Amino acid sequence: MNHINKSPEILIIDDTPEHIHFVASIIRRRKYRVRAVTGALQAFAALEKGIPDLILLDVLMPGMNGFELCTLIKADRLYSSIPIIFLTSVNDSENIVRGFEAGAQDYVSKPVNARELLARIETHLNLKKRTDRLLEAYRDIDNFNHVISHDLKTPVCSIYKLAGFLRAAVESGDTKEICEISDILMEKAAGTVELVDKYTRLVKLSSAAVNTCEVNMDCLALKVMEEIKKTHPGQRIVFEKKPLPVVHGDSLLLEQVLVNIFSNAAKYSRKRAETVIHMSCSRKDCEYTFSVKDNGVGFEMKYAENIFNLFVRLHEQNEYEGTGIGLSTVKKIICLHGGKVWITAEADKGAEVCFTLPVEIEAEA
Ligand SMILES: Nc1ncnc2c1ncn2[C@@H]1O[C@H](COP(=O)(O)OP(=O)(O)OP(=O)(O)O)[C@@H](O)[C@H]1O
Ligand SMILES: [Mg+2]
Repeated sequence: MNHINKSPEILIIDDTPEHIHFVASIIRRRKYRVRAVTGALQAFAALEKGIPDLILLDVLMPGMNGFELCTLIKADRLYSSIPIIFLTSVNDSENIVRGFEAGAQDYVSKPVNARELLARIETHLNLKKRTDRLLEAYRDIDNFNHVISHDLKTPVCSIYKLAGFLRAAVESGDTKEICEISDILMEKAAGTVELVDKYTRLVKLSSAAVNTCEVNMDCLALKVMEEIKKTHPGQRIVFEKKPLPVVHGDSLLLEQVLVNIFSNAAKYSRKRAETVIHMSCSRKDCEYTFSVKDNGVGFEMKYAENIFNLFVRLHEQNEYEGTGIGLSTVKKIICLHGGKVWITAEADKGAEVCFTLPVEIEAEA
């Protein structure tokens, strides 16, 4: 995936602070972000705080040695895909093999040669990126099978049945029935085309190039809300907006995020006499958190565990139409921008979608 804004983060695990300092000074030359810890316990605490893109691991450490720590990290499903490079003076063949058997990807001898270390780090970061893309493509193919076998098959089967009814109506010359069935047929066909369009757009996101520029979220929110109001004629929508910042991102993709979130807010509150959608943004350190709140039907949080997964819907199709692709698309786009997204709600009290975007430091200066 073509993430923006974040340089790779490397975790150094070494019991000697001078070694950490030396290695960190080398890898910072490539603008990698660095975290460092001096032992196994601290290493797990550091992994819990955030998953690094690569680990540089010392072998000889008091308590648990590097081989043992590597085996434990690789046995954990959450951390097993992090590439690990051993950095050590224990570099006889036997120990090198032990390192690979423990699950490490590579081995660099101390004293460290800066160019060699940087070249190996870059190689493993690239390999990891390619593996991640392949895994994502595999997940997309898996989803596609689901789309074909379920989400496309169902409407196509009902179109087939309706065509049979239409033929019978034509044979009996019942004009009223012909018109009614034709309307349902057209609606079903349009829904199927919408599903295919939305799904194709989502899949394309995996290989999309992110074209970053400064995006004025204030103007974008107003523009998208105008469109939403036009597509919900007859619904009274009040949009309350606090000032929103300029962010660094892909304007078309961020527009899609707002379209999907606002259209949910409008759709799931259309039974209110007045729909109120409130948007605000706060900043903490290097992160903006945007919030979009509505006063709609909401839902019970206990059903919402997989709500960002493709095709997960909490409301009945006959009450609130939809394909279940909107929030998956939002998540994919926000992840591409290095942010996070979550949703909270209460049944009959409305929902709040929050997403974060990194503050672009240079854009601020
Ligand atoms: N603002 C909201 N209020 C209440 N429920 C919501 C809200 N936003 C999302 N949901 C719930 O989350 C589910 C997933 O949302 P998502 O936008 O992915 O799909 P959708 O709205 O059903 O279809 P579409 O792909 O056409 O947007 C919805 O079906 C709905 O049950
Ligand atoms: Mg939606």
